[in-house]
Amino acid sequence: MAERSIPLIDHRQAAARPAVPRDAPAPDGLMTDRRGRLLRDLRISVTDRCNFRCSYCMPKEVFDKDHRFLPHAELLSFEEITRLARVFTLHGVRKLRLTGGEPLLRKNLEILIGQLSQLRTPDGEPLDLTLTTNASLLARKAQALKDAGLQRITVSLDALDDAVFRRMNDVDFPVAEVLEGIEAAAKVGLAPIKVNMVVKRGTNDQEIVPMARFFRDNFGGAVVLRFIEYMDVGITNGWRMDEVLPSAQVVARIHEHFALRALEASAPGETAERWGYEDGRGEVGVISSVTQAFCGDCNRARLSTEGKLYLCLFGHRGHDLRTLIRDPAGYTDLQIAAAIGQVWQGRDDRYSELRGSAAGELAAAAKVEMSYIGG
Ligand code: GTP
Ligand code: 5AD
Ligand code: SF4
Ligand code: SF4
Repeated sequence: MAERSIPLIDHRQAAARPAVPRDAPAPDGLMTDRRGRLLRDLRISVTDRCNFRCSYCMPKEVFDKDHRFLPHAELLSFEEITRLARVFTLHGVRKLRLTGGEPLLRKNLEILIGQLSQLRTPDGEPLDLTLTTNASLLARKAQALKDAGLQRITVSLDALDDAVFRRMNDVDFPVAEVLEGIEAAAKVGLAPIKVNMVVKRGTNDQEIVPMARFFRDNFGGAVVLRFIEYMDVGITNGWRMDEVLPSAQVVARIHEHFALRALEASAPGETAERWGYEDGRGEVGVISSVTQAFCGDCNRARLSTEGKLYLCLFGHRGHDLRTLIRDPAGYTDLQIAAAIGQVWQGRDDRYSELRGSAAGELAAAAKVEMSYIGG
């Protein structure tokens, strides 16, 4: 356990206030960062709290009763989140993902979803609006989420075996209730449903084939199961390379039971590599941030619960947008867009590609926690 006793760095203090440039060109959705990458996907954390304590994300030893979560007054309001999301659409953002912590813990989340679902791209298209949840509250909330305008949903589930799952969420939460949540989501038409399984060698890798079989056989092929390589996000989870099972081995293990063939990516910059079952019964995905970094076309930005913009999941310095939108100067949307544009144009992050190199080691020392900026 000694490796887990690393103190948490409080990133909530470390943020730069973006400048508002005077003569920025109007945003045209084609702005690129220093590596030529567009901005297309905004992931919004709506709470830093979670009712689970997955050891790879919020280990109990660190996120205990003494941990100080953000007080409510620090959070962005729904109006502020919606305003920022609208500004991001001017720069080409087309996908919004609500995350946490556990987003369904945020009170009245449906109201925010209702507001976000009204947003349109400059071409008048609705955005792809989705949410990542541990599904503990999903059975109860699926209908309200759908009614509010949520399109689809992603559920985190690391095992079907109840004992393994209870151990991994570390709060003794049963698998059955997560499955009820998935069922409720399917019933109300939150589709497609994705299920994300973080694979830790020696902890839940024996669950890979049972999970694949279960989601082939149930929900009429509506669920896309994705296997995620265990990552070294944050600095508190005691990550070790020998606990990472490379995605190539995940694919090989499934292929032994059900023949797979590679599919084309469905969108540029996608996290998952897609594999279809030869017999046509759906597909699985693998997300290989450790063995096959996908920073090359990473178009994702992250907004923390208190309004800091992070340019990488492994970032260590946020850009304080909350101060900007609350400034007495009363900046316009175009001014805020100009400030965000300047930040994005300076972006050079590509942590997964650098992992293990000297530059990567330096960056690794102060990474932000995933429960704070969201997956
Ligand atoms: P879809 O639009 O549904 O395909 O979602 P997505 O794959 O973009 O997002 P999702 O939140 O489902 O991502 C799944 C997992 O991939 C996350 O929980 C992270 O573990 C990992 N992930 C997502 N985005 C990034 C990223 O930008 N960098 C890295 N290294 N990992 C990421
Ligand atoms: N490695 C990989 N994925 C992680 N997540 C959280 N921590 C990690 C980690 N260390 C992802 C999981 C979970 C989502 C909320 O965040 O996919 O489903
Ligand atoms: Fe909570 Fe998701 Fe993190 Fe688990 S991975 S502790 S469910 S935010
Ligand atoms: Fe994008 Fe950073 Fe993930 Fe690379 S490590 S894909 S730059 S978020």
